[in-house]
Amino acid sequence: MRVLTGIPGFDEITNGGLLKGRTYLVLGGPGAGKTIFSLQYICNGAISYDEPGIYVTLEESVESIVTTAKSLGWDIDSLQAEGKVRIIDASPYYSPVVATKYAIRTESVLGEAEFEINSVIDIINKSIIELGATRLVIDALTPLIIQYKTLFEARMKILSLIKALKELEGVTSLITAEVIPPNWESTLFGIERYVVDGVIMLYYIRVRGERIRGVEVVKLRGSPHSHSIHPFKITPKGIIIYPKEKLTWDEERIL
Ligand SMILES: Nc1ncnc2c1ncn2[C@@H]1O[C@H](COP(=O)(O)OP(=O)(O)OP(=O)(O)O)[C@@H](O)[C@H]1O
Ligand SMILES: [Mg+2]
Repeated sequence: MRVLTGIPGFDEITNGGLLKGRTYLVLGGPGAGKTIFSLQYICNGAISYDEPGIYVTLEESVESIVTTAKSLGWDIDSLQAEGKVRIIDASPYYSPVVATKYAIRTESVLGEAEFEINSVIDIINKSIIELGATRLVIDALTPLIIQYKTLFEARMKILSLIKALKELEGVTSLITAEVIPPNWESTLFGIERYVVDGVIMLYYIRVRGERIRGVEVVKLRGSPHSHSIHPFKITPKGIIIYPKEKLTWDEERIL
C-alpha cells in the first residue's frame, strides 16, 4: 500500500508515493529543505489524507517548527488542537544538561545515553496510540546519536532505532539527517543509508554563483522510481518538485 506525501511532484517520481510502514531517510546539507519536506509530509497527511502524524523535533524548538508551518500556510494550531498533528520536543531526552531539569517529570534515567533513545521511542509509541497516527517524522537523527562515544555504539543505536520504527505497525516514518557537502555520499555515521528502506537526497548546490535545489530518490526498496535529479523550489506554499525536468550540472563546479 502506498502513502501519498502530497508534495507536488514527489509522488510522481516515486511511482505513487512511499510504501506504507517503511522507514525513510531524508538527507541534505544545511538549509537543503529537510525540515520543510518532513513538515509538509505530516501536514498534508493530516489535511488531505486523514492520516494523523507525529513530528519529533530534536534540533529546533516547537515554536520554531510552528512558525515555519504557519509561514507556509498550514494551520498547525488547529491541526494540533484537533489531534491530527502532534509536535514533540524530544530535546530533554537527549541533552544531559537539559535532561537533569526534566528528570523528575520524565521519571527515566536521563543523562545516561542507554535510556534516552528508549525514552523517545516510548513517547512516540504513546502519541501514536493517542492520535491513531500513521505518519512519523524524526528531525533529526544526529542529536540522538552524537552522544555515543564510539562509532560502534552510535551505529548500534541507529540500528536499534530503525528496528523500533519498523516495528511500529502501519506507521510510515521519515528521519532527517545531514550529509557533508561537497561529498554527498558521506553521512555522519556511515550506515544510515544502508539500513533504511529508502533514501531521499535534497541538494542545495552552488552552480556558477547561484544555489539551485534538486531532489533525488537514491533508493526505494520494493518500488521503481525516477533515477534523475529533479529541480524543486521552496515556495510560500511549501516544496514544489518538477518531475518532468532534470537537473544536470558540471560536477567540478559544485562547491
Ligand atoms: N516561507 C518560506 N518561503 C520560501 N523559502 C523558505 C521559507 N521558509 C524557509 N525557506 C527556505 O528553506 C530553507 C530552510 O529549509 P529547512 O529548514 O527545511 O532546511 P533543513 O535542511 O532542515 O536545514 P537544517 O540542516 O538547518 O535543519 C531556508 O534557508 C530558506 O531558503
Ligand atoms: Mg532542519
